[in-house]
Amino acid sequence: MLKSKDLLGLRNTSAEEISLILDTAGKFKRALAKGEKNFNMLKGKTLVTLFYENSTRTRCSFELAGKYLGATEINIAASSSSVQKGETLIDTGKTLQALKTDFIAIRHPMGGAPHLLAKTVGCSVLNGGDGMNEHPTQALLDMLSIKEEFGALKGLKVAILGDIKHSRVAKSNLFGLSKMGAEVWVYAPKTLIPAGFEDLGAHVASSREQCVEGAQAVMGLRIQLERQSGGLFPSLSEYARFYGVNDAVMKYADKNAIVVHPGPVNRGVELTPALIDGGTSRIEDQVTSGLAVRMAALKLLSEYREANL
Ligand code: CP
Repeated sequence: MLKSKDLLGLRNTSAEEISLILDTAGKFKRALAKGEKNFNMLKGKTLVTLFYENSTRTRCSFELAGKYLGATEINIAASSSSVQKGETLIDTGKTLQALKTDFIAIRHPMGGAPHLLAKTVGCSVLNGGDGMNEHPTQALLDMLSIKEEFGALKGLKVAILGDIKHSRVAKSNLFGLSKMGAEVWVYAPKTLIPAGFEDLGAHVASSREQCVEGAQAVMGLRIQLERQSGGLFPSLSEYARFYGVNDAVMKYADKNAIVVHPGPVNRGVELTPALIDGGTSRIEDQVTSGLAVRMAALKLLSEYREANL
């Protein structure tokens, strides 16, 4: 059983809890592959997706996860809600609680916003990405796709190249993969590597080749221009030339290596179109893993609520 009413990040989630979520998600993924979509585990429960930032994959998969599990589900886009009239996150949370919401999946530009909401309401809060902090369900779905490819995460090398500094995905993957016994290597222009990243357990490579050498999974991360104030690298084309992943770089990876990316992808910047669409790409599989992981998280949090609240 999970140990908390909320899923806020992987920094404070144990290896046992991660294994439980991945095993449960694996079962959902196999059922989805057979065409099953009617699970009644959350019948009578309500899920609200509360997104203060744009999203395709995370919001849609949380919504569908709730629907496939039998929950009542609604979406609130901050851009068309009373947030625009000055309502605070806490007041919005209290409003959703008064509407008898059981689960809130939130994405917010400020790191820590889901944690504040979780302290304020009795609903279970699922972090769908908070600023540059964490994106736990993304890392869990990455881990599920990688684990399914290689049978286990322990002993694997995962290379992450791209905008590490602004990436909540990199941090959640670092926490999660390290706990599951995988090695995480990163490479980017020095301006896109956060200070102290090695202290969190990452290996910071001194070249693209060193980062990818022998890796079983190579992850590209989007350059997040919306979070940059500018001047961190000369141009996107130079970034692609010196830091992007292409066929020549992949020759250094393990012979069975797969290419993963959380999406959305800037084609031709962090990964070449040939890699994105090629046989080693697991980018579409990751999206299905995302649905299964979010179903698993909702089911397991529901079980926690039944037992503890
Ligand atoms: N990977 C991810 O979070 O994608 P979205 O921004 O489309 O949700």
